[in-house]
Amino acid sequence: MTVNTALRDYLSSRRTVTAPFLAEPGPTLDQLAELLTIACRVPDHGKLAPWRFVIFAGAAREKVGQRLYDIAQRKWPERTEEQLAVERNQFLPAPLTVGVISTAAPHVKIPEFEQLLAAGNVAFNLCHAANALGFGAHWVTRWFAYDDEAAAMLGAREGERFVAFVHIGTPQTRLEDRDRPDPQALTTYWEG
Ligand SMILES: Cc1cc2nc3c(=O)[nH]c(=O)nc-3n(C[C@H](O)[C@H](O)[C@H](O)COP(=O)(O)O)c2cc1C
Repeated sequence: MTVNTALRDYLSSRRTVTAPFLAEPGPTLDQLAELLTIACRVPDHGKLAPWRFVIFAGAAREKVGQRLYDIAQRKWPERTEEQLAVERNQFLPAPLTVGVISTAAPHVKIPEFEQLLAAGNVAFNLCHAANALGFGAHWVTRWFAYDDEAAAMLGAREGERFVAFVHIGTPQTRLEDRDRPDPQALTTYWEG
């Protein structure tokens, strides 16, 4: 068996770069196409491809921030201007964000739960793909993935839900690692 040391080293050390530390340059159109192609190469029971993408790039990032601000202002009138202002920057400064939507729906054979997992696989594979091309990535959901009005504004159709907004850009820092779970503490041997 040949050990793939590059892949092992990557998987052993990969780390999110959070959105405030993602800057230009972002992926070119060709790179974005490659990122999405890699993202789609995931285990997917029944080969349903129960996901789709929404891209937030260029001027759309400020526009979508203003739309989130407007919704937040209506929903939470008690919030201060400073509290609301964060909404304008939800899709900044990262040059590109890929929304990953689960299109899971009832199916004769494949449970919706498994379809949702497939979309999660896509989101994480997109993070790996971004890293492979030299970019940093940050998977977030935030309130607007769970708010029906905001999710619809962002592109979710009836019955769909966002599983991720993956911010992608050039890393401006490498974050300290965080505590990692101890797999031993999470593992038992089945004994019947
Ligand atoms: C489904 C899901 C939703 C997440 N939502 C957020 C979020 O809204 N905001 C956030 O800061 N991190 C969020 N995270 C966590 C980050 O993506 C990331 O896991 C965390 O910053 C740790 O980074 P690591 O990848 O280096 O372990 C989410 C992760 C997952 C899997």
